[in-house]
Amino acid sequence: MALSVGIIGCGSISRAHAVSLRLLGDDGLVRLVALADPDPAGIERVEQIAGPVARRYTDGRDLIADPDVEAVLVIAPTKHHRELIAAVAEAGKPCFTEKPLAPTFPVVTEIVDLVERAGIPTQVGFQSRFHPILRFLHGVVADARYGRPMGYVIRDDQFWPTTDVMEGHTAWRSSAAEAGGGALLEHSIHSCDIACWLFGPVTRVYARTRHVFGYDVEDTAALTIEHANGVVGTLLTIFNGVIDREERRIEVFLEQAAIEATTDFVVGAPEDSLLVKERSGPAERIDTQALCRESFVRDGVDVDRPFYVYQYLAHRAFARSLAAGTPPSPGVRDALAAHQLVEAAYRSARTGVPVAIADL
Ligand SMILES: NC(=O)c1ccc[n+]([C@@H]2O[C@H](COP(=O)([O-])OP(=O)(O)OC[C@H]3O[C@@H](n4cnc5c(N)ncnc54)[C@H](O)[C@@H]3O)[C@@H](O)[C@H]2O)c1
Repeated sequence: MALSVGIIGCGSISRAHAVSLRLLGDDGLVRLVALADPDPAGIERVEQIAGPVARRYTDGRDLIADPDVEAVLVIAPTKHHRELIAAVAEAGKPCFTEKPLAPTFPVVTEIVDLVERAGIPTQVGFQSRFHPILRFLHGVVADARYGRPMGYVIRDDQFWPTTDVMEGHTAWRSSAAEAGGGALLEHSIHSCDIACWLFGPVTRVYARTRHVFGYDVEDTAALTIEHANGVVGTLLTIFNGVIDREERRIEVFLEQAAIEATTDFVVGAPEDSLLVKERSGPAERIDTQALCRESFVRDGVDVDRPFYVYQYLAHRAFARSLAAGTPPSPGVRDALAAHQLVEAAYRSARTGVPVAIADL
């Protein structure tokens, strides 16, 4: 029986969700039955991709109360997440929410508490964890085939997703009151999640931030991150004016290998690459298309589709967890770990000294 879902917030990223839900509809796993957005143009935008829906709402709370909606996808701007997630929790329905959980850290902890108290299955939109290239990295770190991880470098750069810089985007991301943070919170919270997922809990963070474009949130942040297992890493994140660029590079150094992984916003992007240099022999450039194919075959995903926004893989995992009665992953505890890293970085940038996670 397909899971009936409703989307609250039909903006820019809802298009990727809509593509995913259309494919999951074809798979018979999920049925998109309702949309909510105060802007009717947003609803039309999603319907053009995912097909017409039975119910359209201007207020997300009406969608949450709709008995035909079994699970709710919260994709509205970040400042609305708390109110919407609280209503979903009160209704006792499963929730898929976009990251970041909230613009400020105290509200993040409130959301984690209210979700845990309600006990609703909740997945957070850290879709990078479903990318086959990153899953390869996770596998080699976890099985220690190249020894222990020693350190890493992560670099994220993408265009400033705000209307003055990128035509077609909304403006809330360049306002501290609306977004709470810039490149680090809004975009590289994905990388913070990846760092925690690959290398475990973080203990201490030192960071510097810049506001080169003159907004009151940062467009540049550089972090030094210490993990409980001794691994140290750096993260540089940039929002600039380079249109169409959304690249992430991760270099991981293990005792017996150096690995360079590059990904973009879709699985199968031209930017995708993976290079492994083992202890001896030449560096091997892994065929990422074959890697993705093998990963999809293992997961029972249709490999004949041309490419995947990885929201497809994330939603598929969400629907399958609900069907199996297992907790969806990544969940709010994972989000809390990523938010702690971000919060420690912001405090460090303000004070000029490293900040321990234990002191948050
Ligand atoms: N996982 C990812 O990689 C990823 C990527 C982009 C955005 N996001 C997150 O998704 C969320 C939405 O981002 P976006 O780029 O689509 O924003 P957007 O500004 O493009 O669109 C937001 C949409 O929500 C609607 N909206 C505003 N207030 C609402 C409310 N109270 N209830 C329902 N709808 C409301 C707006 O009318 C608009 O259509 C943000 O939290 C953002 O951080 C995640």
